[in-house]
Amino acid sequence: MTVPPPIVAPSILAADFARLAEEVRAVEDAADWLHVDVMDNHFVPNLTIGLPVVQSLRAATQIPFDVHLMIEDPRRWAPGYADAGAYNVTFHAEACDDPVALAKDLRSAGAKAGLAIDRDTAIEPYLDLLPSFDTLLIMTIKAGFGGQRFIPQLLDKVRAARRHVAAGHLELRIEVDGGIAADTIEQAAAAGADAFVAGTAVYGADDPAEAVRRLRALAERAAAGA
Ligand code: DX5
Ligand code: ZN
Repeated sequence: MTVPPPIVAPSILAADFARLAEEVRAVEDAADWLHVDVMDNHFVPNLTIGLPVVQSLRAATQIPFDVHLMIEDPRRWAPGYADAGAYNVTFHAEACDDPVALAKDLRSAGAKAGLAIDRDTAIEPYLDLLPSFDTLLIMTIKAGFGGQRFIPQLLDKVRAARRHVAAGHLELRIEVDGGIAADTIEQAAAAGADAFVAGTAVYGADDPAEAVRRLRALAERAAAGA
């Protein structure tokens, strides 16, 4: 199994929102992507930030943005994040009736396209859509809040996706999000994930950059042993 070097994406959901630019700078040299959780208080009960904050933050750092849209009606809003310079824009399968069409729109707006699968959604109906996507985000919690406990059973979806990606020789990152920390990242990597979102484990650490490096080292080790 050939898995590319792991991506570590700190989630600013766990950062201090009053000092966002500073919090991003604390990880920009150590991290690969910055994970930006957009929640609309409809698709999920929580509410976070939207386009104006992403636009301002985009001007404050060079790190690629991995935007995770937990919103209704992503066909209306997602392309705006691509236009704002997001590297990858991920929307939820549960919120979109034509994921392939939106993936096309995102790619033509210059972004990578990501499909997210929430805790209670099966992966199988979406496997055949994966050639239209650059990232597949598999939630390892129920989307909506940081700081939840990792659900190891959800790694079965990662295994199924990894098998499908390998069999089809697809160029696709398999990303996990939720409860990723030093004690869970190795099992996620061994299951076939190669991109890792971590909020609490990074911004809850005394040294966020060091926490990122440590997580990457653990993921590399587990992937090498897989
Ligand atoms: C939750 C978000 C996650 C969140 C993860 O719905 O999608 O990105 O920030 O937080 P931790 O790493 O604390 O579980
Ligand atoms: Zn997220």
